[in-house]
Amino acid sequence: MQDPVLNKGTAFTEAERDALGLRGLVPPHVQTIDEQVQRFLGIYRKRATDLERYIDLSSLQDRNQTLYYHIITRFIEEMMPLIYTPTVGLACQQFGQIFRRSHGMYISQKDLGNVAQLLNNWPRKDIRVIVVTDGERILGLGDLGANGMGIPIGKLSLYTACAGIHPTQCLPVAIDVGTNNQSLLDDPLYLGLHQHRTTGEIYDALVDEFITAASATFPQALIQFEDFANHNAFRFLHKYRNSVCTFNDDIQGTAAVALAGIYSALRITGGNLRDQRFLFFGAGEAGTGVGELMVTALQAEGLSEAQARKACWFIDSKGLVVQSRTDLNEQKRPFAQEHAPLKDPLAIIEALRPTALIGASGQAGTFTQEIIQAATRVAGRPIVFALSNPTSKAECTAEQAYTWSRGAAIFASGSPFAPLEFEGQWFVPGQGNNAYIFPGVGLGIIASGSRLVPDAMFLAAAQTLAQLVTESDLKQGRIYPSLKQIREVSLAIAVTVARVAEESGLATRKLPEDARSAIQKLMYVPNYVSLV
Ligand code: NAI
Repeated sequence: MQDPVLNKGTAFTEAERDALGLRGLVPPHVQTIDEQVQRFLGIYRKRATDLERYIDLSSLQDRNQTLYYHIITRFIEEMMPLIYTPTVGLACQQFGQIFRRSHGMYISQKDLGNVAQLLNNWPRKDIRVIVVTDGERILGLGDLGANGMGIPIGKLSLYTACAGIHPTQCLPVAIDVGTNNQSLLDDPLYLGLHQHRTTGEIYDALVDEFITAASATFPQALIQFEDFANHNAFRFLHKYRNSVCTFNDDIQGTAAVALAGIYSALRITGGNLRDQRFLFFGAGEAGTGVGELMVTALQAEGLSEAQARKACWFIDSKGLVVQSRTDLNEQKRPFAQEHAPLKDPLAIIEALRPTALIGASGQAGTFTQEIIQAATRVAGRPIVFALSNPTSKAECTAEQAYTWSRGAAIFASGSPFAPLEFEGQWFVPGQGNNAYIFPGVGLGIIASGSRLVPDAMFLAAAQTLAQLVTESDLKQGRIYPSLKQIREVSLAIAVTVARVAEESGLATRKLPEDARSAIQKLMYVPNYVSLV
């Protein structure tokens, strides 16, 4: 009863109550899981705020994991915005106040030199997925320090709900080197180290020690980097990707989900990828990550790298990314175009005539009415992706995109927007949610025992996701499958990813001919199993 993995609460059967000495410790009426669901949702749905609902879910996860995963899997559309963006952002901001029971591991600067020993404290040994953050760039909310732990916890819940990775094989990790968020430092309830962020050699040494220790302690684990600040995210990806089974979801996962959205949007406009011109607002982790995968996708269609890069234009906080600029970092430089410097987005749209606007700026309202109208004028049916999270940071809302383009825009966002009617037609805005990609990629990696995570896996995942969008989805402007199908989506992606692992010689496990059913058998189904 005290172990959330085994606990069934009122659903312990008569036989279990006898065999395990539970008689008298639970009320006499044996409930079904459906009755427990009904009880939970009864209160949950009456809560006044999403934060209260988040606390309900997280307390349930503490008490009874089977019921928790059963509920989030069965009601994934309703639960996803709570477990993940936007509510998880709010939960991270209030983490110190709502903290009840510790989940996951905190590795702080104080543990330098002892990280392996610390990882041995984790009670489970068969870990298959680790999600790690250092809390420096939580969604578009900035530095939340150790409070960022809400993100690995949420992402791993999605690994279980969407791809059936067993909850006991998941490990959320927060690396804590302090925070530069003064209001957290001033808050006595803040749970992380009360110090400014340590950078440089000590920070790198801690991350390095963690990666080495995690790979040794949990040799079968995939390590997903999450919500690190821009410079560190790219640095660590390049440092570890050729020796450790790791990827960065903000860079590579986002790229795959955005590319899948583009493939689907082109089925609506009838265009093909080679003829598009992409204008990115934001040249950070998300933006250049999408750009790089787009280049890979265009090369797969026969373009040279130089031709592919010519299709991808970027605006950052200083204006158009062009060759004459001297302030461009390593990620932006490959996208610097030969063009006169321009700052005004309207002038840029008139000059470049983009077919797609991809917002990854972290700045709310970047897509103004004038910008959407100009994009509609030049493209006819512009693809408009407002990827910044949470909802408060979106470049524009779904309603704005549809209204300002008079229903012409093909819209997707990072955080969810409800379906809406415009001039008698219903539109279902797509959510470019990374949860369409990373759980399936993880499952494919686990199934194949892939040693590394090459970009080809993300390209394959994007193509698979786009193929699962039906004609009736497209008719409503919906460019991603319904979240209700997420387990089938993850399974399909896992099969493709496992094949990529085999083809690239990275697989350490051979898949049987019927890879699909073999992988499906690996997926945890959150239902009670007999304990006696
Ligand atoms: P970042 O800090 O690495 O990059 C932000 C970029 O935006 C920088 O290049 C900056 O110069 C640029 N920028 C700032 N103001 C701008 C403006 N007014 N116009 C054009 N560019 C501007 O941040 P990162 O990691 O790329 O994240 C950006 C946003 O994307 C965040 O809100 C994040 O939550 C979101 N994101 C969404 C995902 C999804 O929907 N699937 C996944 C990952 C990130």
